[in-house]
Amino acid sequence: MTLKGEFSPPGDKSVSHRVVLMSLLADGKVEVENLSRCTDVKSSMAAAAELGAKISQNGDLYLIEGTGDELSRSAYLDCGNSGTTIRLLCGILAGAPGRFVLDGDDSLRRRPMERVAEPLRAMGAVIRCRYGKCPVEVSGATLRGTSLELSVPSAQVKSAVLLAACRGFGPTSIVQTVETRDHTERLLELMGSRVLKSGQTMMVGPSRLRLPARVRVPGDPSSAAFFLCGAAMVPGSEITARGVMLNPTRNGFLEVMRRMGADLKVARDDSGHEPEGSVTVRYTPRLKGCRVRSEEIPGMVDEIPILALLASTARGETVFQGVGELRVKESDRLSMIQRQLGRLNAGVSVEGDDLVVRGPSRLRYGRTLDSGGDHRIAMTLRMASLLTKGQPEIQGEDSVNVSYPGFHRHLEMLRGRSTSREMAGQGACIG
Ligand code: S3P
Repeated sequence: MTLKGEFSPPGDKSVSHRVVLMSLLADGKVEVENLSRCTDVKSSMAAAAELGAKISQNGDLYLIEGTGDELSRSAYLDCGNSGTTIRLLCGILAGAPGRFVLDGDDSLRRRPMERVAEPLRAMGAVIRCRYGKCPVEVSGATLRGTSLELSVPSAQVKSAVLLAACRGFGPTSIVQTVETRDHTERLLELMGSRVLKSGQTMMVGPSRLRLPARVRVPGDPSSAAFFLCGAAMVPGSEITARGVMLNPTRNGFLEVMRRMGADLKVARDDSGHEPEGSVTVRYTPRLKGCRVRSEEIPGMVDEIPILALLASTARGETVFQGVGELRVKESDRLSMIQRQLGRLNAGVSVEGDDLVVRGPSRLRYGRTLDSGGDHRIAMTLRMASLLTKGQPEIQGEDSVNVSYPGFHRHLEMLRGRSTSREMAGQGACIG
């Protein structure tokens, strides 16, 4: 069974969240092309609408009218499964008059919220978490500019602070010891703010944002990664992902694939507010293990499950250093990777905060696997099944809709199981 053909991954989830949520701080109207329709982004859309943004759809475009910073004064906001929704909203609402309660599903209720509440409190915010988790209550306060050093390498935390800083009195400076995805900074600039960067420090002042007339969301590299890694490990495969975001703060997985010896070609186009382009991957039988340093992890934090699978097919040892953050994702991904890939006979161990994969392993069929309701684990296990004889039942596989509703359609298409005609009107995928 090979993977062949071309596909366009859905609009990037991180950028989609930000375009929707930043409309809460902005004047004007924006037409958004290629907005992700995944359930996580729907949580952001529902919350933004509840707070006063006007969102409508016109064919493939979404039209969003900003609130001009005039938000509802109180709201209960269900953020579903989405960490990005709840954490960015904490920053946006910290300086807004009113009282807001933010909650989510069982998975979100297990995830740490103090990491975002603490720096916002240093700016004067009034935020209460229940035992460090959600529900979170944000009572809008007057914020002051301040200097902060972020203790966790998290783009969600950094973004919450940057967005709160738009309403602060005086400039806020942020030191991040490790670089994380910079979509908020790029969109702030696009919406008329200035983010001054010097080394590891960035500074942003009070800003009145204005939505651009139109914005295009590039394809999600984290979604594309499943098939790109799939093509590298399934004999005879060759696929091209079109319109993929090529932002260097997100493309660490391509560097790791290269280090493993994958046959990879990238064609860039830098004309938009985010770089994008095509990535072609061809199967190569000679993948080798490699070392990934902890400071590289934020650039591929969501791709570790699929990279671990790829590493299990490579000769030698692959070490992902300092991946402790994976314990507080939608599931405890470190333990899920170890247990579920382990059931398929992959040589995976967790040593402290490092994930170690010893390959190559001959993966064997596991009749029932468990995704723990985590979308990225579900897609990783489905990709693993391309290397085993039967098709497993994957518990909680519906969770793929959290980030990639078209995942199974694209998989069937790339496996040559459905024709282009069957695919017409069902998302961009050309066989
Ligand atoms: C995201 C940041 C990352 C990532 C998540 C999306 C974002 O989380 O895992 O899927 O859009 O800012 P952390 O900020 O917790 O690292």
